[in-house]
Amino acid sequence: MNVKESLSNALAPLCQTDAGELTEWFEIPRKADMGDLAFPCFRLSRSMRKAPPVIAAELKERLVLPVGVAKAEAVGGYLNFFVDAAAKASSVLGKVLAERDRYGASSVGEGKTVCVEYSSINIAKPFGFHHLPTTAIGNALYRIYRFLGYKTVGINHLGDWGTQFGKMITAYKLWGTKPIEDYSIRELVALYVRFHEEAEKDPSLNDTARAWFHKIETGDPEALELWSKMKDGTIREVKVTYARMGVDFDSWAGESFYEDKMPAIIRELREKGISKLDQGAEIVDLSEWNMPPCIIVKSDGSTIYATRDIAAACYRKETYDFYKSLYVVAYQQDLHFRQFFKVLELMGRDWVKDCVHVNFGMVSMEDASFSTRSGNILYLDDILQAAVDKTYAIICEKSPSLEDKQSAAEAVGIGAILWSVLYNNRIKDVSFTWDKILNFDGETAPYVQYTHARCCSVLRKAPQTDHAAANAALLDDPYSQALLTAIEAFPDAVLSAAEKYEPYVISRSLIAVASAFNKFYYEQRIMADDPKVQAARLALAEATRLVLKNGLNLLGISAPERM
Ligand code: ARG
Repeated sequence: MNVKESLSNALAPLCQTDAGELTEWFEIPRKADMGDLAFPCFRLSRSMRKAPPVIAAELKERLVLPVGVAKAEAVGGYLNFFVDAAAKASSVLGKVLAERDRYGASSVGEGKTVCVEYSSINIAKPFGFHHLPTTAIGNALYRIYRFLGYKTVGINHLGDWGTQFGKMITAYKLWGTKPIEDYSIRELVALYVRFHEEAEKDPSLNDTARAWFHKIETGDPEALELWSKMKDGTIREVKVTYARMGVDFDSWAGESFYEDKMPAIIRELREKGISKLDQGAEIVDLSEWNMPPCIIVKSDGSTIYATRDIAAACYRKETYDFYKSLYVVAYQQDLHFRQFFKVLELMGRDWVKDCVHVNFGMVSMEDASFSTRSGNILYLDDILQAAVDKTYAIICEKSPSLEDKQSAAEAVGIGAILWSVLYNNRIKDVSFTWDKILNFDGETAPYVQYTHARCCSVLRKAPQTDHAAANAALLDDPYSQALLTAIEAFPDAVLSAAEKYEPYVISRSLIAVASAFNKFYYEQRIMADDPKVQAARLALAEATRLVLKNGLNLLGISAPERM
């Protein structure tokens, strides 16, 4: 039982409130000298019919302090508690050293499945910089939910269907010079660009393209083969990028996968009288909810994006029986999600309440050499490579004697990029500069990684000791205590990140741990003369290492041991 829980148990009978609820009330006092935990009495004033300061003073008199709490002070409407330093040190350290790479994990999700759709790139189109947030945030949420005991299904809802594939085939047939599977994404994009240039001059190309897409839709073997080879080639190429970023998926079911699942949806919408005909198209009128209509079938008979999303949502419910289904997609698509969620609700799918559009803001690049390149499309690959190259140069300067500079640069460069979209509230737009993200002393991934490597280095050089046997009571100085407080907060950060779909809660927690460790490192000699103190401080360094590693891992960022 942690201190919050034992305090809640002691407070519950005095407040006539459930202990489980009280544990949620605790806050961290504004200043360290005000104690370790603050219990606000404001919510009790109605039931206890007294002013909060009076309640705080009375509780202080009547409460028998549980083990591990040294004293209580009533300040205004708060009852502040001072935790017994030795008890805190041994409980935090004991927990981290016992749970190790499971510290922060939980079984709250046992028996529940969470679908996380992320990245969802388009076939034969650039894997662009603008796909960074969905890829990084989705991958982090996937890992966070898994850590909390949920069964997780990572889905890459590929954009692999639509008239553009007719254009691609037309272009390939006219100007292709080698087998289609040998085309890189950039070469496919070049074909696509050429198609549009030529179609300006010769609009009949558009008819050819339409005919080719019709052939794909109706299962013409040649058309299907070309389409699927283009798709396989794109996937092969992006898998390399995903691997660099530590990203993976359980399902690559793209839009095409839902082709044969749409007729049933369209039929149901008709039969239930939810859709109606409107100028040749089939739509669901959403004016009652102040939204434009959701188009189900276009006037030319083709189905569209929203219809496929409706089919996909139903398929995911049937296949995975999800507890939650998350869609990590940019806020530009807010309306689209509200529309098709509403249609699902009208269809009586009450589980749509468990579908969440996890939206996010835009990323932009403040580096002129990048923003003008190739018609403003920034390839994610180029950005990753540039980050690794720049990091390599920094490492050569900072750690000239490091043996494997290349793999450290890879871990740190990519980590810095991922972190740039994991450090703030999702919805905030991110403008990206190299100086900011590669600052080893800022609130960055390199800073956290560097601190982790510093812990590893301290532990490597120290004599081997049994950390669990260390006397934690010797960690009663303010620097150790502040570090322990930051470490203790980590499991709650993981839970809160999942609850809010906000990986940044974990990033902030890691910064708190890293900066508390660095203060501790500069102020207290870890290799103290007293071997008992030394052993306790090494145990604390080991605990710090474990927390940083677990947290970085949840964010999909690697934690090199040397850098
Ligand atoms: N492929 C789309 C794009 O890159 C994003 C798909 C989002 N997911 C969805 N279920 N609609 O814009």
